[in-house]
Amino acid sequence: MKRTTLFAGLLMISATAFAQNIKLPAPQQNGGKPLMEALSQRKSAREFDAKALSEQTLSNLLWAAYGFNRDGMRTVPSANNKQEFEVYAVTEKGAYLYNAKENTLELVSDKDLRSQTGKQGFVTTAPLNLVFAYDTKAMPDEKVAYADCGFISQNVYLYCASEGLATVVRGGGISKEDLAKAIGLKDGYAIVFSQTVGYPKK
Ligand SMILES: Cc1cc2nc3c(=O)[nH]c(=O)nc-3n(C[C@H](O)[C@H](O)[C@H](O)COP(=O)(O)O)c2cc1C
Repeated sequence: MKRTTLFAGLLMISATAFAQNIKLPAPQQNGGKPLMEALSQRKSAREFDAKALSEQTLSNLLWAAYGFNRDGMRTVPSANNKQEFEVYAVTEKGAYLYNAKENTLELVSDKDLRSQTGKQGFVTTAPLNLVFAYDTKAMPDEKVAYADCGFISQNVYLYCASEGLATVVRGGGISKEDLAKAIGLKDGYAIVFSQTVGYPKK
């Protein structure tokens, strides 16, 4: 094999090996529907089109859910500003941890784990299931963690209402231990809810 061919081959292998994390486009922090319109359209949906969400939509959605909107502070409140949550994006391509600081998706599994995010049929075909998990050491009071999680979920609901996307937060039917293992959740972290997002089924 020629040296150049070998070099090109090695480059391709390393590109594949490191093509793990996704650098998201900057979130668009303007536009959307006026708040009162978004509120009037907020609802849960349980039918989703399989069409994938663009990286721009993912970036906007994740920023709305749990991004930073001022120095070290988030789009959601948290008790004592613990910011104890992690948000995972489970897609057909793999599962990712949202890194709000870097605006990246860090690959935690290259498998399609959507079916593991719940028992309702649509989770398997909808393009995105978010998983909200928190650090139980940072927030020992489970009730407070659940309250904090509600704010994240509601931001997702409002973003979806604003953008004409379908969503439902889910607390039931999640095999939390199995899902925690599949996404490589660190010790001391606990899953609270999953939330499905996609285009409404026509
Ligand atoms: C904490 C919580 C857990 C929920 N769990 C589920 C669930 O497991 N599956 C589901 O289809 N909907 C679930 N929902 C959605 C509710 O069923 C829904 O919000 C409710 O029926 C009101 O409908 P709306 O959201 O369209 O106003 C949950 C909602 C909340 C707040």
